[in-house]
Amino acid sequence: MTVTRKAYRAAILHSIADPAEVGVQASHEYFEDGLLVIDQGRINAVGHASELLPTLAADIEVVHYQDALITPGFIDTHIHFPQTGMIGSYGEQLLDWLNTYTFPCERQFADKAHADQVAKLFIDELLRNGTTTALVFGSVHPESVNALFEQAERLDLRLIAGKVMMDRNAPDYLTDTAESGYRDSKALIERWHGKGRLHYAVTPRFAPTSTPEQLAAAGRLLKEHPGVYLHTHLSENLKEIDWVKQLFPERSGYLDVYDDFELLGERSVFAHGVHLCDQECQRLAETGSAVAFCPTSNLFLGSGLFNLPQAERFKVNVGLGTDVGAGTSFSLLNTLNEAYKVMQLQGAPLHPFKSLYLATLGGARALRLDDRIGSLRPGNDADFVVLDYKATPLLDYRLQQSTSIEETLFVLATLGDDRTVRETFAAGRSVHRR
Ligand code: GUN
Ligand code: ZN
Repeated sequence: MTVTRKAYRAAILHSIADPAEVGVQASHEYFEDGLLVIDQGRINAVGHASELLPTLAADIEVVHYQDALITPGFIDTHIHFPQTGMIGSYGEQLLDWLNTYTFPCERQFADKAHADQVAKLFIDELLRNGTTTALVFGSVHPESVNALFEQAERLDLRLIAGKVMMDRNAPDYLTDTAESGYRDSKALIERWHGKGRLHYAVTPRFAPTSTPEQLAAAGRLLKEHPGVYLHTHLSENLKEIDWVKQLFPERSGYLDVYDDFELLGERSVFAHGVHLCDQECQRLAETGSAVAFCPTSNLFLGSGLFNLPQAERFKVNVGLGTDVGAGTSFSLLNTLNEAYKVMQLQGAPLHPFKSLYLATLGGARALRLDDRIGSLRPGNDADFVVLDYKATPLLDYRLQQSTSIEETLFVLATLGDDRTVRETFAAGRSVHRR
């Protein structure tokens, strides 16, 4: 169903550039009394209400939100759909956590009915948290991806997902083969990639769980289907990195394994990158690859602190990821709260406008979708959220002390969570309302 013209009046804030490139002040646009005009699921205009209201036809409905801030929908550049049921699992670091909690949970997604049930919950949870686009890991089972895409298609969401490829170093019940992983991924690409606002990501889990044959097959899929994504994990945990060195002794490092199979490129997104050397950052940048910064996960699994200034120095594209279920929240506001602390520990506190950028336009750039989402530029998809200044008594009281949008934004990111999201819109349609 297409939505015809409608306008939304509130404070409006969006990123228009990376603060690392243009400085914080030139990185955003803010309209204290703003108007966002939507037409046929796209943004038609954004600006000051006083300037735009007189230009509207008399019959256009204007929805006026009090004590609210409209921003672009949030973009989660790394999350696992089949880990929804095991978020908050105690006590282990990456490799033991995978074996103890993750693999048994993902096993259940062989059952399409289970996948359907969790897909609905998962998509609802994204929207409740104001996330309008995500790059999503499925399980090894093609049915998991069918379930997720069917649910996203129903709501006309812009979503990227893929079936996990893993043909070694995992339980038998959860492995494919180089051959079947290739064939099943190809069938999913043909069924889903480019359908509505859906995109496919070739998804080898990480180097240790794919044979060289399977990584080569992943490279073939990318070559045969220009425009599909590559989504995997990279340099998250020190034991993992040692393991990759043992498995691929002929390669110069972790990233070089992926590079050797031609998996780097403009639509390649690597989760974590906590322990990258300068050379690897250089290589990510020159290939146009992106990194998903996943602070709640990196803290929860004790993986380490992502070095954002290093990535900025090399001009690596960086988005923000929740990495649920290693990450502990679906909320990108909550994720920014933790990102700020990760940066504090490295002596480089995250500026509120950089935070906004990471959660919106930066994510869109990492996904090469900044011509469609991530900002409220006219022509873009009408994916946006309405944040509630009065979501909780504490937020309400704290924001009464705020003297600038910069301060308000920082407080929203520090105290905010799903309760802060009053309404979520995808392609101009309301898809969640508190
Ligand atoms: N590395 C390989 N698989 C996973 C996973 O499921 N989660 C995280 N955080 N890291 C991984
Ligand atoms: Zn992950």
